[in-house]
Amino acid sequence: MSRDLPMVVPAPGLPGRVTIYEVGARDGLQNESSVVPVEVKAEFLDRLAAAGLTTLEATSFVHPRWVPQLADAADLLARLARVPGVDYPVLVPNERGLDRALQAGVEHVAVFASATESFAQRNLNRSLDAQFAMFDAVVTRALAAGLRVRGYVSMCFGDPWEGAVDPAQVAAVGRRLVEMGCHQLSLGDTIGTGTPGHVDAVLEACGAAGVPVARIAVHFHDTYGQALANTLAALRRGVVTVDASAGGLGGCPYAESATGNLATEDLVWMLDGLGVGHGVDLDALAATSAWMAGRLGRPSPSRVVRALTG
Ligand code: HMG
Ligand code: MG
Repeated sequence: MSRDLPMVVPAPGLPGRVTIYEVGARDGLQNESSVVPVEVKAEFLDRLAAAGLTTLEATSFVHPRWVPQLADAADLLARLARVPGVDYPVLVPNERGLDRALQAGVEHVAVFASATESFAQRNLNRSLDAQFAMFDAVVTRALAAGLRVRGYVSMCFGDPWEGAVDPAQVAAVGRRLVEMGCHQLSLGDTIGTGTPGHVDAVLEACGAAGVPVARIAVHFHDTYGQALANTLAALRRGVVTVDASAGGLGGCPYAESATGNLATEDLVWMLDGLGVGHGVDLDALAATSAWMAGRLGRPSPSRVVRALTG
């Protein structure tokens, strides 16, 4: 028996193709209570590349005491197949992290800012203002070394300590990252409280602040089941890069209410039904997530992974 397929019914106002920025190996595994063996991480990334994903955020060069789950960053990069045409960005918070990333031969790094004071303190040990000086040094040196730099903004929708976040504040932080030289801005709903109208408001504010929508990516955590609806709202406004995590792995160790990201499989199912191109082999991807769930000892939270592999 062949498997279920969505009927392809294009909807108006959507892009013809979307780039999936896969964060499972970084955002997913940084939040695991156990440290996943480096050879399992390498196999995970190699399998994701084989499934057709072309942007694989691999790991972070953060302080190993802050995120012990990713302390093996250099070892992991040395083990990867590094498939031609596949981009392997890494998170870098500061110059020490950049030094380590350069030594590992990376070509693409991401700095990660906070839209709120509370999360800047907790995640970066810096004030909201001081985070920019730290990133400015990283971006300047990274660009001079020929790297590309992505800029994340966290807590773009709600913050567990401060509540609702003003879209104008998000846009102001994002604009500073773009002015520094970030080629792309990823707007993070770190705790997943956003809803589609709120997505419109944040994208509207970014547009008003002069950030072109073509440079914006969306990064939705699925804590309250809104990630897919929020993604559709963003696509309708012209966003063409969507962050997602294979099998819905994810969270943030410094924001307890954060759970997994939008599952890549759930995104691919919706894009298939809408006739939007993405280049991913859904069966190979779901099999990879089911395999990873087995390594982690619990089922994938992705409904599509469960339906296809259960
Ligand atoms: P700090 O303690 O203020 O660091 O941490 P420091 O600059 O004061 O340095 C203290 C010591 O740490 C020094 O060593 C440094 O060399 C060392 P000493 O001189 O004392 O021997 N050090 C490092 N060692 C290795 N690698 C480094 C590094 N940096 C300093 N990179 C820091 C500041 C930013 C490093 C720390 O707060 C940190 O690592 N934070 C990272 C937290 C994190 O990774 N959070 C998860 C990622 S963000 C996220 O998940 C959200 C996202 O998905 C989007 C969304 O969902 O919204 C992106
Ligand atoms: Mg995240």
